[in-house]
Amino acid sequence: MRTQIVAGNWKMNKTLSETEVLLSELSAKIPDTHAQVIVAPTFINLAAAQNHLQSSTIHVAAQNMHFAENGAYTGEISADMLLDIGLDMVILGHSERRSLFGEDDALLAKKVDTAIGKGMTAIFCFGEELDERKSGNHFSVVENQLKQALFHLEEKAWGQLVLAYEPVWAIGTGETASPDQAQEMHAFIRKTIAEAYNSSVANNVSILYGGSVKPGNAAEIFSKPDVDGGLIGGASLKADDFIAIVKAI
Ligand code: PGA
Repeated sequence: MRTQIVAGNWKMNKTLSETEVLLSELSAKIPDTHAQVIVAPTFINLAAAQNHLQSSTIHVAAQNMHFAENGAYTGEISADMLLDIGLDMVILGHSERRSLFGEDDALLAKKVDTAIGKGMTAIFCFGEELDERKSGNHFSVVENQLKQALFHLEEKAWGQLVLAYEPVWAIGTGETASPDQAQEMHAFIRKTIAEAYNSSVANNVSILYGGSVKPGNAAEIFSKPDVDGGLIGGASLKADDFIAIVKAI
């Protein structure tokens, strides 16, 4: 049985006091669930979030980190810094990191290596742009992203990976991939992993869908056999919406 996951990527939103308010609401309203529930506040509020959620079932993840151990990387955050405040999950390769901050799969491969080497779980994001889907290249784009960032890993590292397929055209746009489009791509991702490794690796890795998941569409998307949950942006900033999405899994 694969782990079902609902993760909220808060992006550059919520001050410390707003973070405390949202976390209090979430902890009060979180239902009993078989799914792993994760929130990813901004770096500066991670320690407070981790403290706040100590007795909660909600996990905290970082939105990014650097690949280096430490050193002269002004403005960056290392794996050890995250581990030291009790975090062992990190989102890597979000499309905004790729498009706005120039991260590519070669760089992401190094970040993934560091996360795995440090015993962390990496939530690895990838997905095609609109023109790539329109031109029918979405499968090859996704296959290349996986190959370049992940397929150098040893089989056992896959136990520390969660995949998040996020078609860029669906992120923050209100336009969602249809449940069938999500299923089609998730099945393709699993087939690609099975070919590169084996069916056990492919069947055990959780693949989340991300891109305009809302309370109104979550249940249908999550009902697809290869969709193991969601990475939620905008709708994770409101407790009632996020909780409704958690309930949909
Ligand atoms: P969205 O963002 O839910 O606001 O579309 C998803 C994401 O960026 O992970």
